[in-house]
Amino acid sequence: MDEKVEIFEVGPRDGLQNEARPIPTADKIALVDCLSKAGFARIEVASFVSPKWVPQMADSGEVLAGITRAPGVRYAALTPNIKGLERAIAARADEVAIFGSASEGFSRANINASIAESLERFGPVAEAARKVGLPVRGYISCVSDCPYDGPTDPAQVAQVAARLDAMGCYEISLGDTIGQATPERIGAMLDAVLEVVPAVRLAGHFHDTGGRALENIEASLARGLRVFDAAVGGLGGCPYAPGAAGNVATEAVLDRLEALGFEPGLDRDVVLSGAAMARAMRAG
Ligand code: HMG
Ligand code: MG
Repeated sequence: MDEKVEIFEVGPRDGLQNEARPIPTADKIALVDCLSKAGFARIEVASFVSPKWVPQMADSGEVLAGITRAPGVRYAALTPNIKGLERAIAARADEVAIFGSASEGFSRANINASIAESLERFGPVAEAARKVGLPVRGYISCVSDCPYDGPTDPAQVAQVAARLDAMGCYEISLGDTIGQATPERIGAMLDAVLEVVPAVRLAGHFHDTGGRALENIEASLARGLRVFDAAVGGLGGCPYAPGAAGNVATEAVLDRLEALGFEPGLDRDVVLSGAAMARAMRAG
């Protein structure tokens, strides 16, 4: 088959943001520099959120300043509001992401806003980013289950996706934030979202709490998705999603995609070195 599928590496951001122990900036830079040699086109390395909310990401500017940028790699950052966007521009992020939720409970816990308020806040962020030529990605959390509200209605995911699409997000990443989804429920959610956004502008973002992330990726592949977020070493979790385990491990996604005949275009040895580094950072 040899069809291209992209793994979007989110380890330096989603993988590390939840670590309670402060990780030295130099270690984060070393991890990104390693991952830059693996063949990823995009690596999420920074999060310009409130340092009071997520202290681990407070050094995002220093990380972006310290890395050795590889040609052809875009270094991405989360930007919840205009202040975050200004910090991302100052740090020379190559693309930014706005991040909302399909469930009210998580939206309030994670970004202190209702879904409607968050979408109002994101509009000007997306517009300002476009003005300076920065591509904007959109995330939707809790596309299957919410730690506060329970199961999510697929129609609600589709509504938020349509709004992010209308704001000009070049891609929308659909997050199973607490890793409870099943392939059947991911299929039903995607059927609703695909009514409003085509598969070429969607990505899957699976946490692996329930151990079914790889199956959920396969259900997404069957519906035409070709981009998947993953974190080396399977690190991760969201501080505002109690019980959420790590992102699906990049090395596991790589193996599964290759077994299915897809071509992720990554150097496995480098990915495994990155995974070892990431795990060592967690262990302290
Ligand atoms: P708020 O408290 O409502 O914000 O937080 P505010 O505008 O009222 O400001 C309060 C203080 O924060 C002020 O400082 C602001 O200056 C400061 P003070 O005057 O008190 O000293 N502030 C900032 N500082 C630096 N950078 C900023 C910024 N914005 C405000 N950008 C806010 C609202 C959105 C900022 C807050 O809730 C927040 O930072 N939330 C982020 C939570 C987060 O990072 N969660 C994890 C990422 S999402 C995720 O992991 C899910 C994902 O992986 C997909 C999936 O798995 O589902 C993407
Ligand atoms: Mg996540």
